[in-house]
Amino acid sequence: MVAVSTREKLKPMVNSGNNAIRIRVRGLGKRYGALEVFRGIDLEAGDHEIVAIVGPSGCGKTTLLRCIDGLLAVDSGEVVVDSERVTSPIAGVAMVFQHFGLFPWKTVYDNVAYGLRMAGISRAEITRRVPHFINLVGLKGFEKAFPYQMSGGMQQRCGLARALAIEPRVLLMDEPFAAVDAQTREILQFELLRIWEQRPTTMLFVTHSIEEAVLMGDRVVVLKGRPSNIHETIAIDLPRPRTRDTLREPRFGELRERVWGTLMSEARQAEFQLGA
Ligand SMILES: Nc1ncnc2c1ncn2[C@@H]1O[C@H](COP(=O)(O)OP(=O)(O)O)[C@@H](O)[C@H]1O
Ligand SMILES: [Mg+2]
Repeated sequence: MVAVSTREKLKPMVNSGNNAIRIRVRGLGKRYGALEVFRGIDLEAGDHEIVAIVGPSGCGKTTLLRCIDGLLAVDSGEVVVDSERVTSPIAGVAMVFQHFGLFPWKTVYDNVAYGLRMAGISRAEITRRVPHFINLVGLKGFEKAFPYQMSGGMQQRCGLARALAIEPRVLLMDEPFAAVDAQTREILQFELLRIWEQRPTTMLFVTHSIEEAVLMGDRVVVLKGRPSNIHETIAIDLPRPRTRDTLREPRFGELRERVWGTLMSEARQAEFQLGA
């Protein structure tokens, strides 16, 4: 997959207050030919809010993010980021892909710098920003490495640095840790939380892991059905900063069970449909 998180120009992040809505999705519908993926999706994400999105494979999570990113045209409804209606990729929105989306022929440094160069950022600013974000994700010393020389976890750190380097207003994460091993995944989850604490942005975080959704999200949105829609939105009232201790809180377990129950009722239903 080719990296497409670059934008023609960058805007500085505008901190418009904690209650401001940054992403507003209204009545969104998308089909691929005869396949109607979703219909009537209404979703909002506030400033500094992390909205986790879970749902069975194939329910349209990636499609939804690509519509919000402006990479895919929608069939009905609209996406508004701040006050800008999204019809093609806009400045200040960055996406992190499940399969990293790095250029294999570029080094870590050049992968991270790419979006900034495309955005016309000055050479001096690129020289300042790129090492900063490489350090932030723990890749110092690997500036000259190529993707094939790195583990999946390191490649995703690079993908994260590339997205963060444009200092986005909105981060769209598409199962960012699904392709790394379990231990690396845990490390990266807490690193992402640490980075987010330092510089909170609005984030839509798609995952198929219920635990990850509850750990990251201020809300968990459950997509279901065919065409899919938002079945339930669960507020995650766990305090921040979230750490490994969060996983041991009784409330974490309750919320995980709640999301699990919602998803599994769907899985059972699907099983019956298959067996019928
Ligand atoms: N470019 C495409 N053309 C046709 N069908 C597609 C395309 N991309 C995805 N789909 C189909 O749309 C549905 C939703 O896909 P996707 O958004 O990737 O789901 P998820 O990310 O939740 O697994 C799936 O049935 C998938 O096969
Ligand atoms: Mg997907």
